Amino acid sequence: MKHFLMCEPTFFEVCYVINPWMEGNMGKVNEALAKQQWENLYDIVAGLASVSLIEPAAGLPDMVFTANAGLVQKREFIVSSFLHAERQPEAKFFEKFFSSHGYRVRHLRKETIFEGAGDALFDSQGRLWFGSGIRSEPQALDEIVNAFDVEACGLELVDPHWYHLDTAFCPLPEGRAIAYEKAFARTSVEALNHAFGENIIWVSEPDARNFACNAISIGQRVIMHRASAELKAALKQRGFEVIEADVSEFIKAGGACKCLTLEI
Ligand code: ARG
Repeated sequence: MKHFLMCEPTFFEVCYVINPWMEGNMGKVNEALAKQQWENLYDIVAGLASVSLIEPAAGLPDMVFTANAGLVQKREFIVSSFLHAERQPEAKFFEKFFSSHGYRVRHLRKETIFEGAGDALFDSQGRLWFGSGIRSEPQALDEIVNAFDVEACGLELVDPHWYHLDTAFCPLPEGRAIAYEKAFARTSVEALNHAFGENIIWVSEPDARNFACNAISIGQRVIMHRASAELKAALKQRGFEVIEADVSEFIKAGGACKCLTLEI
């Protein structure tokens, strides 16, 4: 059974702008609705997997996006070191959680920017896909490969709307994946096509803008904010069922379903 870490949106709001989705959304989050949407997502995930919770910290509104805590492999955890000052204090809370839950906590070099599972995703073959160009730095990948001894492939993100790899790419079981082409440099699109071939579904721009690639994959279920009829059909044809979970309030901060979880 999969196991996820989530963080209640007690202190969630948009009070700074560190990605294009946050622009114009300062003070615009409906807190009651955010709480309701988060609880609905929690119920869906908890119905299919087990979920642990980390205590939210006041003054850290983006801590709800646990995907950015770090990268987990077995009982080891590489803690993130965030690009923006606004999110940097989250790291010590995540570090404390993982060390007190029996994980070996590892650090990259102090100056290396790394935003965790937002930019580092394992596919169903155990290969690590790593996104850099906007948040995490390419040298983080070298350090991760040294620490975890994994086969890895770096991808270059080119559009600030798709600032984390998990906003534009989601590996699925059986060697499949969904992705949004315009988020990536041409060579990265080629690398994905080469690796996944027929097994990658390239989503449309409207689906990408609805954060369809920011999906939680649990068995044959794919949980996402919203999917077009075409995307649902394409996934159904390959044996997957889409579960929609409206997270509109979190999209105001530039994150959706997958960002709100970290597989541990
Ligand atoms: N406001 C947050 C940020 O810009 C959103 C993070 C979303 N997380 C993710 N894994 N894509 O950092």
